[in-house]
Amino acid sequence: MPKITVLPHTELCPQGAVIEAEAGTSICDALLKHDIDIDNACGGVCACTTCHVVVREGFKSLNEIDEDEDDMLDRAWGLTPQSRLSCQAILQATDVTVEIPKYSINLAKEGHH
Ligand code: FES
Repeated sequence: MPKITVLPHTELCPQGAVIEAEAGTSICDALLKHDIDIDNACGGVCACTTCHVVVREGFKSLNEIDEDEDDMLDRAWGLTPQSRLSCQAILQATDVTVEIPKYSINLAKEGHH
């Protein structure tokens, strides 16, 4: 089974983690299954950006980004060239390393109220 190395995130995963998940699973589902409580405001249907992750290693092994994901990603906080919406990023046989950005758009918006 491919491994996901999760870099430390202050709230969600302070020590970082290495988890295993079956190929064909979305990164979001794999994280949630291992109690890494990443936001997924739309429930994994590519209609928010709260599940944004940066894939530091193994980016190319994932399924390709489709147009819908690309459009949504444009609105994500802290977008990078290795960004994915984790609910749309499907693991293949390769290990990946992901970073959960410090903020998601929900939190970023609260700053404006
Ligand atoms: Fe909303 Fe992934 S959970 S786009």
